[in-house]
Amino acid sequence: MARYLVTSALPYANGPLHLGHLAGAYLPADIFVRSRRMNGDDILYICGTDEHGVPITIRAEAENVSPRDIVTRFHHEIKDSFDRFNIEFDNFSGTARPNHAKLSQEFFLNLLNNDHIMVKEEDQFYDEQSDRFLPDRYVEGTCPKCGDEKARGDQCDKCGVLLTPFELINPTSSLSGSKPIIKAAKHWYLKLQDFEKDLTTWLESKTTWKDSVTKFMLGWIRTDGLHERAITRDINWGIPVPLDDPDAVGKVLYVWFDAPIGYISSTMEWAERIGKPELWKDYWKNNDTKLIHFIGKDNIPFHAVIWPSLLMGQKSDWILPHDIPANEYLTLEGEKISTSQNWAVWATEAAKDFPTDTLRYALAANAPESKDADFTWAFFQARNNDELANIYGNLVNRTMTFLHKEGGVVPEANYNDRDQEHFTYLENKLNELFTAFEHYKVREACKLMMDLAREGNRYFDETKPWVLRKTDPERLNTVLNVCLNTLRILSFGSYSIIPHSAEKLWNMLGQEGILSLERLNTVMKNSLPIGQQLKESEILFRKIEDNEIKAQIEKLNKQSGNKKMEETPIKESKPEITIEDFLKLDLRVAEVVAAENLEKSRKLLKLQVKIGDESRQILAGIKEFYSPEELVGRKIVIVYNLKPAKLAGELSEGMLLAASNGDKSLLYLVDPGDISSGSSVG
Ligand code: MF3
Ligand code: ZN
Repeated sequence: MARYLVTSALPYANGPLHLGHLAGAYLPADIFVRSRRMNGDDILYICGTDEHGVPITIRAEAENVSPRDIVTRFHHEIKDSFDRFNIEFDNFSGTARPNHAKLSQEFFLNLLNNDHIMVKEEDQFYDEQSDRFLPDRYVEGTCPKCGDEKARGDQCDKCGVLLTPFELINPTSSLSGSKPIIKAAKHWYLKLQDFEKDLTTWLESKTTWKDSVTKFMLGWIRTDGLHERAITRDINWGIPVPLDDPDAVGKVLYVWFDAPIGYISSTMEWAERIGKPELWKDYWKNNDTKLIHFIGKDNIPFHAVIWPSLLMGQKSDWILPHDIPANEYLTLEGEKISTSQNWAVWATEAAKDFPTDTLRYALAANAPESKDADFTWAFFQARNNDELANIYGNLVNRTMTFLHKEGGVVPEANYNDRDQEHFTYLENKLNELFTAFEHYKVREACKLMMDLAREGNRYFDETKPWVLRKTDPERLNTVLNVCLNTLRILSFGSYSIIPHSAEKLWNMLGQEGILSLERLNTVMKNSLPIGQQLKESEILFRKIEDNEIKAQIEKLNKQSGNKKMEETPIKESKPEITIEDFLKLDLRVAEVVAAENLEKSRKLLKLQVKIGDESRQILAGIKEFYSPEELVGRKIVIVYNLKPAKLAGELSEGMLLAASNGDKSLLYLVDPGDISSGSSVG
């Protein structure tokens, strides 16, 4: 049993959550946490709102209320969104709470005592029109690294590099639009250079982390080196600099100094709340604990360099992050999500219009794990109707309906080889599924979960209970028992992704209590008790209609004042052909024996297939939809007599058949079932 401490980036309490937030730092974390819990691990999931920083004071001024009002309002609104989406934290705190301020000040003082902080009087940008020093992110200009014109004084969103305002070319104040003047001010600086060596060694040891984290940060350290960074600010909302120094008056700690400390203060609050005030130490001060920070990619420098420096500089026994699964961005209908332009799907609104399990599934199936991913309403509808309803829901429905006609209890069973084979398949899939969960691969996990349901349907179709009912009542009992236990396993396997539906299914099977009590290491040994009364079944996933999707798109266009999206054109049909034309095609069943990614191509996989005894190589543009591992052993249909061609410098001897939808967001290989390789298709 392992011990984990999982955090999700503390969302700023200055606005509501949208689907992009959920897809990046929250849903993948919640899925991970649930799956580890079902594996029997000790795991704590911590979050809260990030309640300091200039965006909050600006919003407060604009609305003529206090920063605290803003923070309170959005803390609740954000928490409500998480609740609706079943993102279940063990504690959800906020950084404007007194204990957090105390701890952050302690962190500051320790760093000062350990000589990692220095004072400097430096020029700052000052906006004369708004009569204030300009916080970094309110200076805008051209990025010195990539030339993007919308870079902010703290960071360039385009290339991700951390900046200081003076590095910007042509700086302007984004408060007034004016050109800022320069005034000197005294501030406290964290000497990041003190940690350069240790950070480098530490990052170099993290060989399993995403390149987007380690390579990016090591590159940054190597090319620019680390330098002192200001950790105090001239604003009146934040944690006061804890010094008896006239120059510290009116200054607060920089929001990125105190925010990550919120992970600790929230854990302490949790320990206090459950009446074991010392228990947080088991997590934060025990080297066996795996500390995992789920974040979006814009947070990488803060979590992989600045935050570990804060921890190292305490010269105490704080643990360091074990992993930082940083996700890329979600775009929406092909465009960057923008809160200011209202090009966003707001979490609370979406949760009112659709079941949140369906939203969770669609977001997870298309998670921005290794590159940006695009959320479209058409994709969402297809995932729901074609997969959740047609595969998962259909299996539940046909099984339960059948069972209720047959008395509604779990029948006795006498499993034969076919049944054992079925269970072995499920067990293997379940293990693969939990491996995917463990490696934060939620896209793959969605596919594997659906494979469980697919196998259930295959078993049902093959054993034909509707025939057995007339011919072989004893075998019927066994088959129905297998079907019910398949549902049990499906419910277990899908709980991390779609907890609400999985739990409903669990209850339909007459099971009580939370699903997570059944552990991965026992799930295949257990089975439903014979004679167990089943509960009434209900439809788990309703169909999502075209007009609902249209309404969402209209809403998006309306709220953003945009006409960004056109209707998808109706597919034109190709000219008529004769049967002779068609018979020219030699279609055959092939089996994939090996598969690998073609590094130089974004789309292509290289497959080795067998057609009967013959071996061939085929290149297929399916990289975005299938991983090499899941293809091996699978049967496909190919055009056998297609003239060989070179693709990306490699020979392709045939083409495989797949179906895809209008916007090419979904693709499925044509499945020849159990027909042996080499057979003809027509
Ligand atoms: N509020 C920040 C953001 O939304 C994230 C803060 S994460 C923490 O980008 F580590 F600082 F807590
Ligand atoms: Zn840039």
